[in-house]
Amino acid sequence: MAPSFRSVLATAVLASCQFANAQNPDDQADRKLPLFNHRPHLEEPALTVFTCTTAGGCVEKERSVVIDWNYHWIHSQDWLSCTTDSGVNATLCPDQATCASNCFIQGDSNYTNNGVTTSGDTLTMYQYTINEDGEAQNASPRLYLLGDDGDYEMLQLLGQELTFTVDLSTLPCGENGALYLGEMDKTGGRSEYNTGGASFGSGYCDAQCPVQNWKNGTLNTDGSGYCCNEMDILEANSRAHSFTPHPCSDTDCDRGGCGLNPYAKGYKDFYGPGGTVDTSKPFTVITQFITDDGTTTGTLASINRKYVQDGKIIASADPEGDFITTESCNAIDGSAAEFGSLPTIGKALSRGMVLTFAIWNDAGQFMNWLDAGDNGPCSETEGNPALIAQNNPRTHVIFSNIRWGDIGSTFSGSGSGNTTTPPTSTPTSTSSPAPTQSQWGQCGGIGWSGPKACASPYECTIVNDYYYQCL
Ligand SMILES: *[C@@H]1O[C@H](CO)[C@@H](O)[C@H](O)[C@H]1NC(C)=O
Ligand SMILES: *[C@@H]1O[C@H](CO)[C@@H](O)[C@H](O)[C@H]1NC(C)=O
Ligand SMILES: *[C@@H]1O[C@H](CO)[C@@H](O)[C@H](O)[C@H]1NC(C)=O
Ligand SMILES: *[C@@H]1O[C@H](CO)[C@@H](O)[C@H](O)[C@H]1NC(C)=O
Repeated sequence: MAPSFRSVLATAVLASCQFANAQNPDDQADRKLPLFNHRPHLEEPALTVFTCTTAGGCVEKERSVVIDWNYHWIHSQDWLSCTTDSGVNATLCPDQATCASNCFIQGDSNYTNNGVTTSGDTLTMYQYTINEDGEAQNASPRLYLLGDDGDYEMLQLLGQELTFTVDLSTLPCGENGALYLGEMDKTGGRSEYNTGGASFGSGYCDAQCPVQNWKNGTLNTDGSGYCCNEMDILEANSRAHSFTPHPCSDTDCDRGGCGLNPYAKGYKDFYGPGGTVDTSKPFTVITQFITDDGTTTGTLASINRKYVQDGKIIASADPEGDFITTESCNAIDGSAAEFGSLPTIGKALSRGMVLTFAIWNDAGQFMNWLDAGDNGPCSETEGNPALIAQNNPRTHVIFSNIRWGDIGSTFSGSGSGNTTTPPTSTPTSTSSPAPTQSQWGQCGGIGWSGPKACASPYECTIVNDYYYQCL
């Protein structure tokens, strides 16, 4: 699940109207940009991230975040919006080439006004900004991680892990602080009609196949949706959370996805203020993409989740471990198999996906799918955005210390997350010899029922709780 296009569009239109009224166009003249002629340098908020290897440790990278294209004001020479409530102005934008010559996209140099600030490795995103009259204005920013080349940073996480720290303490029922991966075009669909591309946040797609004014960076002339593989690493507020793969074909996606939400599995005290994962303070979320052969080129076999808080690795909600395999994915979700389930997500992770950050709420469903009924402790009405704006106008999510790389290289903590110790020796066989696994093959881990001994001279090595490998 991801913020709907409609809520984003409504925000953008609202923001641009306010902007138009508040600004003297002449002041902005040097910042107006033809769609086909982007400003070469944008001052996107800087964000430090880390890439890690087992051998070399973690390396700091200076990156930045860019706000989605729809949050920029797109306007004519005469400062008329090229977008309307229902789409684009057909006079200004009858086709791609005409639209590109008529319309300009405003460079966005003030992220604070969109509810976004960064400092070092920390990104803060507010649902609302507060105007001079003390009123909450919907901001609901969505951001992408930009590389240092003006294109999106493509995270290749097959056989790797992603770790970050999050503070969700101010997010009430109905809010969604989200960190996820989408298989957008690396350039944001940069073309002769949109030379800015990724550096203006263009090219958004997700597994809800959103129908947007712009598709892969250019005018969407046939009203078609734009589907792409999506891996929701965390969709959460202080009361409930889930992680969900959404595999896609070329034309459609597994829109529901095979999500894992510990509350929905019956672990109701695991996550929340004062819970095992105590959401009244920051915690670290680790997501591992384990392949069948332990390499970065194998088939995605399991998506494993761990947490670290106060220096301790936290036991999974489920004594079996919090993980999604192809089998569990297909069991949770009837349409996963049709889209290739985990292996499809694995291929997207191998090609590279764009790291996306969002904070949003939901006037239609009040985010009940995340935190109410079977999914969490919230009532079915308290997620109403009107109530959130009234009672929690400063609700915000803080993401920090984003790291990715080799399994086990991006985090540390005490304990194994389990009170029992994993077996250290294979039981000696009595009668017939035990079957042996060949080099690179799996030889143990949670849920593994295959051979536990390795063919000589390989040794069964614990890669993580879920995957032991013959190395
Ligand atoms: C569309 O743009 C044209 C040309 O600038 C303008 O005259 C017209 O009022 C606009 N229509 C809407 C609905 O904004
Ligand atoms: C952005 O806007 C805010 C509020 O209007 C203002 O306080 C701040 O100085 C602006 N920042 C920049 C970099 O212009
Ligand atoms: C998006 O646009 C880029 C640049 O034009 C192009 O290379 C890519 O194939 C497009 N992707 C899709 C899915 O249309
Ligand atoms: C914890 O250890 C027990 C006993 O070895 C095992 O059955 C269980 O799967 C383990 N759980 C995790 C999360 O490692």
